[in-house]
Amino acid sequence: MIVVAVLAAGRGTRMKSSLPKVLHPLGGRSLVGWVLRSVAALEPSRQMVIVGYEGELVCQSLKHLANVEFVEQREQLGTGHAVQQVLPLLENYDGHLLVLNGDVPLLRSQTLQTLLQTHQEHKNAATILTAHIPNPKGYGRVICDGNHILKQIIEDRDCTTAQKQNRRINAGVYCFHWPRLAEVLPHLKTENDQKEYYLTDAVNDLAPVMAVDVEDYEEILGVNDRQQLATAYQILQTRIKREWMMAGVTLIDPGSTTIDDTVQLSPDVVIEPQTHLRGETHIGRGSQIGPGSLIENSTIGEDTTVRYSVVSQSQIADHSQIGPYAHIRQRSQVGEHCRIGNFVELKKASMGDGSKASHLAYLGDTTLGEQVNIGAGTITANYDGVNKHQTILGDRCKTGANSVLVAPLTLGEDVTVAAGSTVTKSVAADSLVIARSRQIVKPGWRLPKTQESQETGKNTSQE
Ligand code: UD1
Ligand code: CA
Repeated sequence: MIVVAVLAAGRGTRMKSSLPKVLHPLGGRSLVGWVLRSVAALEPSRQMVIVGYEGELVCQSLKHLANVEFVEQREQLGTGHAVQQVLPLLENYDGHLLVLNGDVPLLRSQTLQTLLQTHQEHKNAATILTAHIPNPKGYGRVICDGNHILKQIIEDRDCTTAQKQNRRINAGVYCFHWPRLAEVLPHLKTENDQKEYYLTDAVNDLAPVMAVDVEDYEEILGVNDRQQLATAYQILQTRIKREWMMAGVTLIDPGSTTIDDTVQLSPDVVIEPQTHLRGETHIGRGSQIGPGSLIENSTIGEDTTVRYSVVSQSQIADHSQIGPYAHIRQRSQVGEHCRIGNFVELKKASMGDGSKASHLAYLGDTTLGEQVNIGAGTITANYDGVNKHQTILGDRCKTGANSVLVAPLTLGEDVTVAAGSTVTKSVAADSLVIARSRQIVKPGWRLPKTQESQETGKNTSQE
């Protein structure tokens, strides 16, 4: 049985942000969201998140996760002080406690399994995750004997120059036999450069403590500033893209593409350059996305293309063509074999199978039937300045160029709207609606002459 505590109370001063560090987004999840995801495979019996700075925000962002308890650390007096906050909650617990810093987002579950296994097999008081990293600056240094038994952890800022040469660092991930940790925790002191209660001092007070080295040091990189955030993002992107390519997705230019961890792609999807897939996005087999597209929290069917376009919170079915330069947003739904072309915006609009809006249109709060053809420049006037209203077009309706459909409005099936119409009243099925003034032609008409031009015989009105 394992209980997990995630330290997420710090502000993260080095981020220079009003957002708590652990809530900074990284490819679809927050930093602390990633940490909780990495422990999920261990099926912990309890998960406690220590919150403090902007704790309400942290709780809010994690409240969708089952089985998470929040423990408040009112003042942030250090990582040791953070773990002290769980003492009252684990009074008679005699199992193990896995402690993780909330800013270590790239850990693999398998690594945590190995840590746990080693800890239990050797019956250690504590087992800590360590790595040899090329640039250990800022990390606690771990000094061990030849058998991975810990001698000491010293924070970077408390190290002597000689100690700084040691490249084995503390990852901030620890497995403790809880009764033994509970014994030493109350006795921590603040005799260090930061005058904080260090969890690493508790580790130093226990024996035996064993270090488990990770093979891939990228896993344990901590995020303390924006540069480290960007580095973590690059590592994550490399991992995600590698996995999708292995699963049969073509990435034409991986370097210019970003894909959140929450995205699902099918085999034979082709992602063209400069394309970004975010949130809960699903893309069906054979679809081609990009170049130059952003798809957020949307579902795209099979064999659909989306070029130079933005799709958010929407669904597009199979065999449709979107773009270039389309914007589909806010729960819009596009059917099969549809076409949405240049400078067409859909907002809360649904489009039946086989319908088209090929150029220059705004369709907001609109329901289109099947085989509808929206002419260039068609606009739904859905907003009266106070409320939004619906426009409904039956199957096979056609709107001429530059039509304005003033909502609320319903056009029955097979209605044709003449070009340049401003339609304000609903129209029954099978009709042509012309709502514009008739053209007037005056044969032989000329501009009236001014007095001066009458005198000189010249027309001066253009001067
Ligand atoms: C810590 C370790 C260091 C290790 C590094 C790994 C200590 C003293 N040092 O240093 O040995 O190499 O992590 O990344 O532990 N937090 C709280 N309450 C507090 C202070 C911090 O919850 O009072 C949380 C932070 O939100 C953060 C985590 O603890 O998620 C680590 O704190 P941070 O200040 O980043 O520690 P480091 O200096 O990186
Ligand atoms: Ca850190």
